[in-house]
Amino acid sequence: MKTKLTVVFAFAAVLLMLSSCAQKTPKTYAAKYGFKTGVSVAIGDLYNEDYIKIIKENSSIVVAENCMKWANLRPNKTFWNWTDVDKLVEFAESNKIAVKWHTLFWHNQNPGFISSFKSREQALETMDEHITTIMSRYKGRISEYDVVNEMFNEDGTMRETVWYKSIGPDYIEHALIKARETDPNAKLFLNEYNNEEQGNKKADAMYNFVKDLVDRGIPIDGVGFQLHLATIYPYNEAAVRSNIRRYADLGLQVSFSEVDVRMPVPSSESDRQTQMNTYCSLAKLAKEEPNVTSFITWGFTDKQSWIPSTFPGYGEALLYDKDLKKKPVYEAFVKELAK
Ligand code: G3I
Repeated sequence: MKTKLTVVFAFAAVLLMLSSCAQKTPKTYAAKYGFKTGVSVAIGDLYNEDYIKIIKENSSIVVAENCMKWANLRPNKTFWNWTDVDKLVEFAESNKIAVKWHTLFWHNQNPGFISSFKSREQALETMDEHITTIMSRYKGRISEYDVVNEMFNEDGTMRETVWYKSIGPDYIEHALIKARETDPNAKLFLNEYNNEEQGNKKADAMYNFVKDLVDRGIPIDGVGFQLHLATIYPYNEAAVRSNIRRYADLGLQVSFSEVDVRMPVPSSESDRQTQMNTYCSLAKLAKEEPNVTSFITWGFTDKQSWIPSTFPGYGEALLYDKDLKKKPVYEAFVKELAK
């Protein structure tokens, strides 16, 4: 009897230990506040067990770093490379992780066959075909979409993409309407960078644009703040918070959709501290503002980040170092979420 009881207690203790370990990840803390955490995934990550472990530990949502973009998915009019997307979606499903589509329309990473259109009609037709093919295929499996990515210039004017030039500024509402019609349950986002602080030209232009969509009943669920930040630029928590709140007043969600905080490398103690403060401030905002629904970092390890090749002399922007070790900023981020 005594032995049996000891076994039962030991088993209970192990279960307790396991459950308390399981709770100590960003995604489990975030779940208590009603938002998801996650990372962007490069398809190669899914062939590396160490990367898979990190993705699973940190993600209740994942987003594709590249494989859902036009050039990767649909390099020509008739060939669709579903293999990589299916692999990511199946990986996520088997680990009960949500998937965000990035991105249906963007000015970058496009194949040659959509560099120009003969008419507005032809552009609209191509747009509809892209939306319905993707969203019908993954209906009920992709929970949210970046419908259009990076549609503004820094001065708040609209970026003259191929869609803008061929269709006009209403290309965005056309895409949103078609997307809602195709999968009514998917959450629809417009995603941007440098749009997080109220008072910034681009951020205000985007807010006014989105408010007008909402006022006219165009379907939209939220806005993505990419948050590719740098320690050398000022960061204003109050301005980010008031921006989040004005979207809440419109009934919209905000996704922290591509977070990283780069700094000059090799990094100084002072930059590392600034980076930590920024990650913690964003964690605090995500906890405190109910309409923030996700906190996604753009990658997870400094080994793979897009930063060093795009901003030479900068790096160390993420929460894991080049050896896949959690950095002090990771621990500070988790501590902030746990408070
Ligand atoms: O896969 C090819 C490889 O075969 C080829 O040899 C090599 C030569 O350049 O290019 C490889 O493709 C690169 C791809 O990343 C995969 O590594 C592309 O050139 C390169 O342009 C592409 O960069 C991506 C960039 O978007 C443009 O699509 C970055 O990985 C990705 O992190 C970045 O992500 C964007 C978001 O989508 C939107 N917000 C900003 C963010 C950072 O720029």
